[in-house]
Amino acid sequence: MEGMQAREKLIVANWKMNPATLRDARALFQKIYRLSAPPRVALMLALPSPYLAPIAARSTSKRVTFAAQDLFPGTIGSHTGEVSAAMLASVGARASLIGHSERRALGESDESVARKVRATLDAGLTAVLCIGERERDAHGAYLATLGGQLASALTGITRAHAKRIIVAYEPIWAIGKSASAAMKPHDVHQVVVFVRKTLTPLFGPTAARQVRVLYGGSVEGENAEAIVRDGEVDGLLVGHTSLSPDSFKMIIAAVGRAAR
Ligand code: PGA
Repeated sequence: MEGMQAREKLIVANWKMNPATLRDARALFQKIYRLSAPPRVALMLALPSPYLAPIAARSTSKRVTFAAQDLFPGTIGSHTGEVSAAMLASVGARASLIGHSERRALGESDESVARKVRATLDAGLTAVLCIGERERDAHGAYLATLGGQLASALTGITRAHAKRIIVAYEPIWAIGKSASAAMKPHDVHQVVVFVRKTLTPLFGPTAARQVRVLYGGSVEGENAEAIVRDGEVDGLLVGHTSLSPDSFKMIIAAVGRAAR
């Protein structure tokens, strides 16, 4: 796919509930901000929401954008403890992860994911929709799981929104381990093809191609290049390795090589 090759690669760093204090978050951000990303590689940092405003305010680079890790699908009102997409946008977020497996494990339903995707798009943000199977089976039932997650999350979403949808494929069994436990590039590619095939009847072929597809799950310096190149993904969603600037630097360089 020629157009895909020319597209900028995106690395989304999912800090999860880290680091422990704003002071530590600022220090981590400074180290990451100083890393020089190769041409055609963009960074998105998905931060805990208390850190978004103070950290986004310090960034002047167009190459680095900010995302939330979750949000509430309402605009304003009596929702104690919740944070809206518009609030996140107003403090510098350009996107939000939606339906991360760690949220689904806490009880997030497909219906809730769909409402959050809609709220994210309505607020003008990009939705980084996370999908992934709990386990692999020999008969391909995992593909039905992924197809179902995509179809329900994107119910009622039109092709006009395709540019602001990013699908992050994260097989749950491969999250939070080391590179050797990550998915093999060939298998990643199979899912990328499946995701595009599933999106085509929803959005039409042109818009379906505009949806960026990322891989996440135990990406480290040593497997990042092969996953991006041979998996033919548009980028990566990186958890634990994004908290260690030296290791994260290796991922950025690897994606840069794959983007050439
Ligand atoms: P990991 O996490 O890179 O630590 O596997 C990825 C994620 O959960 O988004």
